[in-house]
Amino acid sequence: MHADLERTLVTREQIAFRVSEIGRQLAADLAVDMAGDRDGAGGENVVIIPVMTGAMVFTADLIRQLPIKLSLGLVAVSSYPGKSMESKGVKIASELPHDLAGKHVVIVDDILDSGQTLGVVRELIERQKPASVRCCVLLKKPESARKRHVDVEYVGFEIPDAFVVGYGLDYDGYYRNHPEIATLKLDVLK
Ligand code: IMP
Ligand code: MG
Repeated sequence: MHADLERTLVTREQIAFRVSEIGRQLAADLAVDMAGDRDGAGGENVVIIPVMTGAMVFTADLIRQLPIKLSLGLVAVSSYPGKSMESKGVKIASELPHDLAGKHVVIVDDILDSGQTLGVVRELIERQKPASVRCCVLLKKPESARKRHVDVEYVGFEIPDAFVVGYGLDYDGYYRNHPEIATLKLDVLK
């Protein structure tokens, strides 16, 4: 464990188990959707959209639990520039995929905090009239952290309102490679 980290909140074993559970559920739900598609295109209609950069580790593990044909589309969003721990408003830093009409879209993010990031991304995607939209997050902070309501269909773990890093989540760009969810020591958060 890196010296800057304080305490593990979710272990790699817990993450692996939960990711496979969510993968099973998501695959089953998408199978129902695809069966209802009139064009019979199957997995060609499934688009997984990770919110970069935080969702990249979770998405990499999650998609390998989905034994279906699918494609990936990225959206890059920055809401915590540099060393801040509070959302400074949402900036969409890349173009969204723009061919989502009639598709089954799964938006994947690392964590639901204030809800502003997923709120904006979900709204922009829904405007394209996909056949279905689902949000999937690994972590969810308590309702008291929410500034904006957003529907989230799959949640890995509910955690306390603490700043966490690891498994894709960063502080000032670092610690994304730590394989567990951990809190940072107070003297690191300056
Ligand atoms: P929201 O817009 O406030 O819901 O924030 C969501 C985004 O902020 C996530 O995509 C994360 O990238 C980032 N974020 C929120 N909480 C944390 C945290 O505890 N650690 C690291 N990043 C976080
Ligand atoms: Mg993020």
